[in-house]
Amino acid sequence: MRYAIIGCGRISDLHAKAAVECQLEFVGFCDILKEKAIARRATIPECENVQIYTNYIEMIEEQKPELVCVTTDSGSHAEIAIECIKRSINVIIEKPIALSMSDAREIVRLANEMKVCVCSCHQNRFNKSVIAIREAVDNGKFGKLFHGSANIRWERDKSYYDLDSWRGTWAGDGGALMNQCIHDIDLLRWLMGNDVDEVFAYTDNLKHPYIEAEDLGLALVKFSNGAYGVIEGTTNIYPDDFEETLCIFGKYGRVRAGGQSVNTIEEWNFADESVHPEDIKKQTYENPPNVYGFGHSALYKDVCDAVTNHRKPYITAEDGMRAVEMILAIYKSAAEGRPIKLPLDNCATTDFEGRFD
Ligand SMILES: NC(=O)c1ccc[n+]([C@@H]2O[C@H](COP(=O)([O-])OP(=O)(O)OC[C@H]3O[C@@H](n4cnc5c(N)ncnc54)[C@H](O)[C@@H]3O)[C@@H](O)[C@H]2O)c1
Repeated sequence: MRYAIIGCGRISDLHAKAAVECQLEFVGFCDILKEKAIARRATIPECENVQIYTNYIEMIEEQKPELVCVTTDSGSHAEIAIECIKRSINVIIEKPIALSMSDAREIVRLANEMKVCVCSCHQNRFNKSVIAIREAVDNGKFGKLFHGSANIRWERDKSYYDLDSWRGTWAGDGGALMNQCIHDIDLLRWLMGNDVDEVFAYTDNLKHPYIEAEDLGLALVKFSNGAYGVIEGTTNIYPDDFEETLCIFGKYGRVRAGGQSVNTIEEWNFADESVHPEDIKKQTYENPPNVYGFGHSALYKDVCDAVTNHRKPYITAEDGMRAVEMILAIYKSAAEGRPIKLPLDNCATTDFEGRFD
């Protein structure tokens, strides 16, 4: 499968490695900064003759890749993905797939119209711990779901935000929720049944006066199935990353996944004792070197299989849109001081420009 990378910064490393594992045929590396594309190419064996581009339209029209990854700054994901989908190219879009509801909806609409595979890169869904929890939900082990919580207590200091000018801006990124916490927010919504009735939230910027967006978000979620959710996400924790923890509570079970990025089952307690807690903890144990986990490889394998077999990927564009919708609803609720009903119509991160100035 002919494959190209659009955006050769930090996270493209994991995409390139996953593409190698899937034996994809690299046909182009694109970055508006030529040296970044050259540097990424240099990390992949046998790619020395693969062409470098600084214009992605030129690259996709000349090289006709069958699959691309969009690993640019968050503010440019939607425009680039839409141009690729219009040309019938399958796309893996880094999270968040878009920064507005209208862009996210357009990605979903076009993906269906063009019948291409569009995957939203929420790789933590492939954590062994998360797969086990999802199976427990699907098998009804929890009974009625009561509530779930997502706690992302991380630290990002000035040197992190100084890495690139887009970080922490409304137009290019959003804040802690849209960037760092979106994975856990995606998991909470997906595990609790996807359909959300309303959201109420506070957001603030307490520690990072040099960024535009929030560094703390606290939200309550009312799911349509009668369950509730609690979200606490921040990049303010002294002195470094503390935890990313997901809890699900139901009538007949409770689960807590923790570790650096919900990659460890810490609690597994069900009325149905067919699986011993210590066994599931051992079977699902993963110790990734960083908060990105091992999920990119599994995600690429799934996308390759989805393209080959003309099926939807495990994580769809709709999934990506749901995560973005949750966060935009949180932003809107906090800005307006009232609960916000879903589905959310038109809302974009840029609607909140100036909120913390
Ligand atoms: N899934 C995850 O766990 C995870 C982890 C880190 C980052 N991300 C997401 O990945 C994206 C990139 O993050 P990063 O840390 O690699 O950022 P980065 O700034 O290191 O890389 C982005 C690259 O895209 C390039 N670029 C910008 N516009 C372009 C365009 N029009 N055409 C080609 N190249 C362009 C930039 O020059 C830069 O090299 C962000 O949206 C971020 O939220 C996801």
